[in-house]
Amino acid sequence: MKSVASVYPRSSGVYRITATPKEPINTGTTTDQGLKIVGNLIAQTSLTNSDLSVFPMNPNPSNPPLVLITHTLPDDWIASLQGKVRAVTGPLDATGLAPELEVHLAEAEGLFCLLTIPVRAELLQRMPRLRAVSNMAAGVDNIDVAACTERGIPVGNTPDVLTDATADLTMAILLSAARRLPESAQDARAGQWRTWSPTGWLGADLRGATLGIVGMGKIGRAVAERAHGFGLRIAYTDTSPRPDVEAALGAKFLSFAELIRQCDFVSLHCPLTPATRGLINESALRKMKPTAILVNAARGPIVDTAALARALAEGWIAAAALDVTDPEPLPPDHPLYLLPNCLIVPHIGSATHGTRRRMAEMACENLLAGLEGRRLPYCVNPEVYK
Ligand code: GLV
Repeated sequence: MKSVASVYPRSSGVYRITATPKEPINTGTTTDQGLKIVGNLIAQTSLTNSDLSVFPMNPNPSNPPLVLITHTLPDDWIASLQGKVRAVTGPLDATGLAPELEVHLAEAEGLFCLLTIPVRAELLQRMPRLRAVSNMAAGVDNIDVAACTERGIPVGNTPDVLTDATADLTMAILLSAARRLPESAQDARAGQWRTWSPTGWLGADLRGATLGIVGMGKIGRAVAERAHGFGLRIAYTDTSPRPDVEAALGAKFLSFAELIRQCDFVSLHCPLTPATRGLINESALRKMKPTAILVNAARGPIVDTAALARALAEGWIAAAALDVTDPEPLPPDHPLYLLPNCLIVPHIGSATHGTRRRMAEMACENLLAGLEGRRLPYCVNPEVYK
């Protein structure tokens, strides 16, 4: 049994089909069909990394819907799917829709995807039976929601659960950039720490400085609360004022133009939309203070990458801290990596154990609701129910 094509149609159970785990499975009993039984899972044992292995999801299926799960996720994160779907799963580090999923597009009724998978009209056309799209992310800019709505397909996301983790990460990279942690840690490691230098590695003061938040949604507010605790003054811009945040944190509503001119830190928390794409372009960067620090933990394309590289190299602004980039991932030889005043981390805003698990669980709740004809608990296009 070398491929999913040879395994899948002959299987009598309901299976999760996934890339062979990198770690060998070394417990369990090998059956005479070459399957290894590990607890209640069955894995093929003699395949290479490019082969596929098979995990039963339900020994007694009636005719559960087929779903595509674009990446391998821990079994216990998606345990609620067990027995309710047949699932074909892409590899752990899939950078796009894996070929082993492509062959099932026509029959799939559900799609469980990550933000790295573009779900555009062209893909949707190849999925005539699709009834639910579940994105394991808060943002849905990777999905053509309008095209889904047109077909009456509900789209689910995982809001709120990642607010704290993303706000924590935002503060972590803001503080790292402000206090030059990457540069100073690198210098210490490289033997440049010769003495307690009174003028070495000087960074920005926080207390009394102003943090400008672009997009005072839930994450923006959570960042504002944390920053308030550090003594930062809060300014913000959004489509409309937020009197609740003004009352709680003394936050000041500014136009975008005023905010970028006045603030010492500018942190982006708006969704990626046609209106926010390229918002931080050359013109905006040139208006910022030369001492300003730009933080982006929202979406890479909100910032014009080439303009930012020039701004950092030529000192239009002091530093940037990026959890997201455009493109993503940024190629390892990208000029931004050579700039000591640019901190880049690999889109880890929601990357805590508890948050990622809960995101997967919520994505499963959405997927099952969609397949069972129930309203998605976290739905971005509720107009499909009208
Ligand atoms: C992460 O960036 C998300 O939108 O969930």
